[in-house]
Amino acid sequence: MASLLPNTLPLAMLMELTHRCPLRCAYCSNPLALSPASAELPTAAWKAALDEAAQLGMLQVHFSGGEPMARPDLIEQVRHATARGLYSNLITSGLLLDAHKLAELVDAGLSHVQLSFQDLDEDGAQWVSGYAGGVAKKREVADRVLASGLALTLNFVMTRHNVSRLSAMLDYAESLGVGRVEVANTQYYGWGLKNRAALIPTREQLDEMNSLVAERRARCKGRMVIDYVIPDYYARRPKACMGGWGQRFINVMPDGTILPCHAAQTIGHLSFPRFPESSLRAAWCEHPSFAAYRGVDWMPDPCGSCDHKEQDWGGCRCQALALAGDASQTDPVCERSPQHAQVVALAMRESRQPTPELMLRQRHA
Ligand code: FES
Repeated sequence: MASLLPNTLPLAMLMELTHRCPLRCAYCSNPLALSPASAELPTAAWKAALDEAAQLGMLQVHFSGGEPMARPDLIEQVRHATARGLYSNLITSGLLLDAHKLAELVDAGLSHVQLSFQDLDEDGAQWVSGYAGGVAKKREVADRVLASGLALTLNFVMTRHNVSRLSAMLDYAESLGVGRVEVANTQYYGWGLKNRAALIPTREQLDEMNSLVAERRARCKGRMVIDYVIPDYYARRPKACMGGWGQRFINVMPDGTILPCHAAQTIGHLSFPRFPESSLRAAWCEHPSFAAYRGVDWMPDPCGSCDHKEQDWGGCRCQALALAGDASQTDPVCERSPQHAQVVALAMRESRQPTPELMLRQRHA
């Protein structure tokens, strides 16, 4: 039985303000059932969550979604976060970030922008996101953010259809002079799991990305950091998902549901509290679902006897459920999992098959 009491309070809060979004990305990791706009927390409740985050000593807040710019009160919330001493990061597609809004965000004290690109090629980006003309708009937004003096991270979403353009993506980032880039292969959660066979790269493409990223990291050392997320299915060791279940991050969904990770609701036998009926502290410190996979006491073998257990914290519980059918099993992306060989074989098989028809997300209600 896992210890209920955490050793630490959360360091950061991900505020999924809304599931509304102008994009319809096939790889979207949000749940199959999106929160309707009518269920979103009102401004006062989000502000109360920010107050409590600051009281708990959290350092960062990430405004996310969906598209957080779809919330008309975003500026007000950023201003509130600033007043509470929180470092604020806006995770955005940029498509609603016009010059006026950007100036307001700067004035409100926003600290950082993370801008996602689905591709650098307009057709490729439209194919995977259902949005025409997005790349040109995002390039304008990147210029505008840099001109505003805000810190900018570019996030390139990788699938097997844009690996050939990774070099151009990194050239572009270098040309802008940004300090950080994320090369993020899509992970297959939520809606994205439906499109895994259409998107997962081949092993050869992974090798190509690995070499290119290594070469660029060497070339850009001291100028630009490249964060690199490989497709889990080809990993030998699992990632420390969310820095460990209930150990670093707290997620608040559009309707106030408080989660240890954005996919936790897929674990059907767990229930989660809601803000403001539950405080963040009560969720973190007292709710059994936050304790369910915290630390190492819950781990079966081979995780329980593994030297890496306090580095990867057993990997991802949601992926263990999706691939092994049981959230308490070893994450099958780990080479010590009995299912690992099957997962690698699955990735290799799907990545080589002709691309099935892509299922874009439905428009949000
Ligand atoms: Fe839930 Fe990894 S996404 S633990």
